[in-house]
Amino acid sequence: MKRILHISSSPRGEASSSIMLANRIIEKIQNLHPGSTVVVNDTTAKDYPHLDAQLISAYKTMEESAHLLKDSDAAVKELFDADIIVIGVPMYNFNMPSALKAWIDHVVRPGVTFSYANGLEGLLKDKKVYLALAAHGVYSDGPMKDYDFSEPYLRYILGFIGLTDITSFRIEGGGIPGIMETAVEKGLDSVVLA
Ligand SMILES: Cc1cc2nc3c(=O)[nH]c(=O)nc-3n(C[C@H](O)[C@H](O)[C@H](O)COP(=O)(O)O)c2cc1C
Repeated sequence: MKRILHISSSPRGEASSSIMLANRIIEKIQNLHPGSTVVVNDTTAKDYPHLDAQLISAYKTMEESAHLLKDSDAAVKELFDADIIVIGVPMYNFNMPSALKAWIDHVVRPGVTFSYANGLEGLLKDKKVYLALAAHGVYSDGPMKDYDFSEPYLRYILGFIGLTDITSFRIEGGGIPGIMETAVEKGLDSVVLA
């Protein structure tokens, strides 16, 4: 039995390719590990604020600023509590949606999810991450490969907080005639878990 955390960042509900793909990944995990539980954090509904001066200073002072850190602390706790994290990543303007970036800004915290105490160390250990990426173009290979700025960044920043075991799946080409007709089916079928 695994504790699965689904971080979603598309506001499109059932029409969303990244949510469909994440759900397929979760289904496969549950087949492998019957009884696994799922917590969903819809970052588009949560509306994490941009970091302001107060919040940035609260990240340093912590205890005295606990009331300001409620949402951040809850998001961090969800990460520590999870065995497997599935992150839905629609591509917006060659990057991730700002809702997902805002979530990152709330979970990447010195002394909480990373530390410089003994050299740089990510504090989230032994967790598996799946990225469920969705885009209208094709970025896994070909001429647009270098223009997906979301996956490389996510791999780096998640690794920075200790989440180094990352596997990606994609629904891509959803806007390209000749590819779009089968893009969803092909992406969903690509989900094979060891
Ligand atoms: C604001 C916006 C920007 C987008 N920018 C890109 C882009 O840069 N490249 C791309 O291939 N698709 C782009 N798309 C298409 C989405 O990536 C595609 O519709 C994807 O399926 C969205 O994820 P979702 O289905 O989970 O909502 C964009 C869509 C929106 C709404």
